[in-house]
Amino acid sequence: MQTIHTENMLREALTAYRTTGDTIALVPTMGALHAGHLALIALAKTHSRRVVVSIFVNPTQFGPHEDFETYPRALSKDEALLRVAGVDVLWAPSVDAMYPDGFATTVSVTRLGDHLCGAVRPGHFDGVATVVAKLCGQVRPDCAVFGEKDWQQLAIIRRLATDLSLNVRILGAPIVREDDGLALSSRNRYLSGNERAIATSLPKSLISAKAQLIAGAPLGPTLAATCVQLLSAGFTSIDYLHVIDSDTLAIRTELSANARIVVAARINTTRLIDNMSIG
Ligand code: PAJ
Repeated sequence: MQTIHTENMLREALTAYRTTGDTIALVPTMGALHAGHLALIALAKTHSRRVVVSIFVNPTQFGPHEDFETYPRALSKDEALLRVAGVDVLWAPSVDAMYPDGFATTVSVTRLGDHLCGAVRPGHFDGVATVVAKLCGQVRPDCAVFGEKDWQQLAIIRRLATDLSLNVRILGAPIVREDDGLALSSRNRYLSGNERAIATSLPKSLISAKAQLIAGAPLGPTLAATCVQLLSAGFTSIDYLHVIDSDTLAIRTELSANARIVVAARINTTRLIDNMSIG
C-alpha cells in the first residue's frame, strides 16, 4: 500500500493503474477506522481491482462548536489496518492541500440537506458534498462506497453524483453494529461506561418502533412514545425521530413502501445517529 499526501503523487499512482485497465474504487473516510469502515473496503474490493481509501478530517463539514479539533486522529494505526485490508492507496491530504489559499468554490445542497441532520448542523452537508466532489475529482474512481449508517449523507451523495455528472457509481454498504446493536462510530469512543450502556437503547428503540409500526400502530403516537422511552433510558435530548422516504428523505406521516425510521439523539455531548428500513 502506498500512503500519498500530494495530488501529483496520487495522479501518478492512479495513472499507472488506469494504464493497465484496472478499475478504481474510492472509500472516503475521516479515519479512526473501525469495522464499519473495513466493511466498506471489503465491498469496494468486490467491485473493483484497486481500492483507494481517503482519510481526511474535513474542517468544512464541522460547525463552529463541533468536535473538529478533538475528532480522533490515528493515522499510523489506520495505516496498519488498511495494509491488512489489502488497500492499494491511502490518500491522506493535508487541510492546506485540500483547501489552499484562494479556495472559493463550494457545493450547496438544497432540499435534501436542510432537514434531519442538516437542521441541527447547518452547512454540514455542503461541506460533505464539497469534499466528496473534490475527492472524486482527484481520484476519478469508477465507484465510491458509503455506509448506510449515515443515510442522509448517502442519499445526498447519490444526488450529488447525478446532479454534477460525477460519472461515479455510488454503492451503499449495510450498517455494521456491535453485538448489542449499537452502530459502530468513531464517536462511540467519546461515551463513558454508563453512557455506552444508555446508547444501546437507541437501536433497541428503533427495532421496537419498527415492529409496532409494521403491526399497524399509528405512526405519530408510536414515535412520540419512542422518544419518551429514549429519554427515560438516559438520552439527554433527541434531535429528531422520523419515518422518511428512503430516497427523497421526505418525512412521512403514514407508513409506506420504501419507509425508513431515522433518529439522532444525544447523551450529554455525544450525538448518535441510527436508521432502519421498515419497507
Ligand atoms: P466517516 O464518519 O469516517 O465515515 C466514513 C464512511 O464510513 C461513511 O460512508 C460512513 O457512512 C461509513 N460508516 C461509518 N460507520 C459505519 C458503520 N457502523 N457501518 C457502515 N458504514 C459506516 O462519513 C464521513 O466519514 C465523512 O462525512 C466523509 C464521507 C468521509 C466526507 O468527509
